[in-house]
Amino acid sequence: MTTPPVYAERRARLAAQLGAGGVAIIPTAPARIRNRDSDYLYRHDSYFFYLTGFTEPNAWLVITAEGRCTLLCQPKDLEREIWDGIRLGPEAAPQALGVDEAHSVDELDRLMPGWLENRQRLWYPFATHSGLETQVERWLGSVRAKVRQGVACPTELMDACGPLDEMRLIKDALELDTMRRACDISAAAHIRAMQTSARRLRAGRDLREFHLDAELLHGFREAGSQYPAYGSIVAGGANACVLHYRADVAPIRDGDLVLIDAGCELDGYASDITRTFPANGRFTGPQRTLYDIVLAAQAAAVDATRVDARFVDPHNAAVAVLAQGMLDVGLLDRNTAGTVDDVIEHRRYTPFYMHRTGHWLGMDVHDCGAYTELNASGERVSRTLKAGMVLTIEPGIYVRPAENVPEAFWNIGIRIEDDAVVTPQGCELISRGVPVDTDAIEALMRD
Ligand code: GLY
Ligand code: MN
Ligand code: MN
Repeated sequence: MTTPPVYAERRARLAAQLGAGGVAIIPTAPARIRNRDSDYLYRHDSYFFYLTGFTEPNAWLVITAEGRCTLLCQPKDLEREIWDGIRLGPEAAPQALGVDEAHSVDELDRLMPGWLENRQRLWYPFATHSGLETQVERWLGSVRAKVRQGVACPTELMDACGPLDEMRLIKDALELDTMRRACDISAAAHIRAMQTSARRLRAGRDLREFHLDAELLHGFREAGSQYPAYGSIVAGGANACVLHYRADVAPIRDGDLVLIDAGCELDGYASDITRTFPANGRFTGPQRTLYDIVLAAQAAAVDATRVDARFVDPHNAAVAVLAQGMLDVGLLDRNTAGTVDDVIEHRRYTPFYMHRTGHWLGMDVHDCGAYTELNASGERVSRTLKAGMVLTIEPGIYVRPAENVPEAFWNIGIRIEDDAVVTPQGCELISRGVPVDTDAIEALMRD
């Protein structure tokens, strides 16, 4: 067996949750056409990868409650492999992936109904694979057609995302190791982009958002990352106030802040880092004022991130600091906005802070997993944090020009985002390979 044993352990844990007579079907992601006959760069399905470590397209995993694992994968095909690359093939798959048996994916429709016969419960990921529900119906139809021969058809359909999301929410040692390495790569790429920004401006060269995007990509790929975990945001000046802005052609000018939200994907795992820095390497007074409020908000959120806290606690901690800061610097007028408690209660901070302070992070940048749970009284409450959960902590302030808002702050957009592993002691920030302090940022942009 060549994949680490952790994949077999995860399959066994899933099997143990399928219930008597259960069977689970987990497909990987389809290849997708970008335009005409060009595909998008292939990205496997996260659930499938979590259970197999296998990254080829056209593959399915079938797991029974008894723990039997069957893979369907692309058959060996010399002609296709010349064009598209080597395939593992069903003959080598049991040895390589530790599954009990493997077949050609061309046999999927012929074999699947037989595997569903006399099974009670069928699990598959709901609403994640276009066409899967129809395919399942077809297979169940074939099973039902044999009912008069004494064959029993599954009577329960269950969402496989349920148990898998819960498993994925708590990262194991292999996952944490990969995520730490992904963060290290991304942090170095952020530093590279910061230094390029200052260097180009010092040299009097044109500086565009795409120049910094190119530095990020270089940093990711040079260190072995497969691709960015999501579309990199590189926003100069006022563009930082557009939350889902993408790196574009806009010029970055001396005196602008630059907001970069970018993280690489490494071996299937995302990192997600945001830094905001002065393009020329020196914060102005108003930039530093707002930056320090966001940094203090992040520190408060970090302090609130620990085992047995609730998911919403870091957000509430950040909002309290941001609200106070907005009143202190005049973004909010005390005469109309009231006290800090009023600002929080009536959400008067939302013109300047309109998103949540974090999200789960894992194979998907906005990773799976419920954000709420039922308490002892049956009420739905914010999720309790457990050791091994990974979440982002990313407060911000975004100031659009408006009447009653001090002009010195107009068009400043700041977000600081780090990735945190919940630990029994608190949380470990795994993305601090790139600094957040204003002095440290200025120092590295000077050198
Ligand atoms: N980069 C996406 C996010 O921060 O949520
Ligand atoms: Mn994020
Ligand atoms: Mn981000």
